[in-house]
Amino acid sequence: YGDHRDLHLSLRRQRQMCIRDRVCMKALILSGGHGTRLRPLTYSQQKQLIPVANKPILFYAIEDVIEAGVKEIGIIVGPNKEQVIETVGSKDWNAKIEFIYQGEPKGLAHAILVAEEFLGNDKFVMYLGDNILKNGIVEHMEKFKALSPNSPNSLILLTEVENPQQFGVAELDKNGRVKRLVEKPRIPPSNYALVGIYFFEPVIIEACKNIKPSWRNELEITDAIQWLIENGYRVEASIVKGWWKDTGKPEDILEANRLVLDEVNHNVKGEIANSEVRGRVVINEDTIIRNSIVKGPCIIGEETTIENSYIGPYTSVGRGCRILSSEIEDSIVMDYAEIVNAGRIVDSLIGRNVKIMKSDSLPKSRRFVIGDTSQVWL
Ligand code: TTP
Repeated sequence: YGDHRDLHLSLRRQRQMCIRDRVCMKALILSGGHGTRLRPLTYSQQKQLIPVANKPILFYAIEDVIEAGVKEIGIIVGPNKEQVIETVGSKDWNAKIEFIYQGEPKGLAHAILVAEEFLGNDKFVMYLGDNILKNGIVEHMEKFKALSPNSPNSLILLTEVENPQQFGVAELDKNGRVKRLVEKPRIPPSNYALVGIYFFEPVIIEACKNIKPSWRNELEITDAIQWLIENGYRVEASIVKGWWKDTGKPEDILEANRLVLDEVNHNVKGEIANSEVRGRVVINEDTIIRNSIVKGPCIIGEETTIENSYIGPYTSVGRGCRILSSEIEDSIVMDYAEIVNAGRIVDSLIGRNVKIMKSDSLPKSRRFVIGDTSQVWL
């Protein structure tokens, strides 16, 4: 009985420590930046609000930090701050959310400095709002905290890639500590690329204050982490298993869409008439599918009409869309878009309120990266 009681007490103590730790762990999610590589979509829409499987990319980050027990979230906002505040505010979150205006995006380390007051003297996880991670961050959060009191001053997430030349890359010593970070190296010291999620102790603020802007005139987070290493602080790494996607470019968004759709559960609510629905498909309320074929994995939002059409695998269609006499596959169609007699569309990102109508020109297979409220006459 005594052993049981001890075990019970120690479990209770552990849980209390856990709760205490969680209270002081904050999250800083970055949702600023110009997103130039995603123009024209980002002329009218903040990059992190672009939907992947009908959910703003930013929401995946918010959900991940909440799942890891964070109760206080600061969201860095930039050029389109009102949009971000409105979209995040349209949902109830199980956490306190504060928006921090960065002004001009002057780098990831600059974002930390702007958030200095919010961060106070607490540990935090910094999560780039355009990153999506299959398995969330619970495991890494535990790793960052579990090593306490000998915990590292920073834990960075890494993932193995085939083309490290295109990423920030970490060099590790034999104990797995980070020795050096290099941006897009010609001769990479390892295959471990930096994922856009970092755990920090408050000393990172001092690091950010001690670095100079880079050649692109930004305060780089890699320089701040390098400063930690050079000043004797411990930076360790945690390896991400499962997929990770940084949605900087159109093809990355489509890839993220495929990865997320690969895991959707079948759930059909709309009205299906004289149509064939195959595979795992989500069809939301008040949507009508008539004389069509829908082949999963795919998702179709509310109040959308699909007639005499084919919706192929890896397609996300938003709310209030009309797709008539067209075929669409491996694409994202955002809210209130209209696609009529458009032939076959693949690998496309189609913005809100876009209209694509038929013309007689060739070729029949078409690719688009077009902005909100664009109109394309084919
Ligand atoms: P990046 O993808 O490096 O920058 P960006 O979003 O401006 O895109 P582009 O290079 O196409 O112009 O930024 C990574 C993430 O951090 C992204 O979610 C935007 C965010 N960010 C900020 O919030 N503030 C900043 O100062 C910077 C540079 C980025």
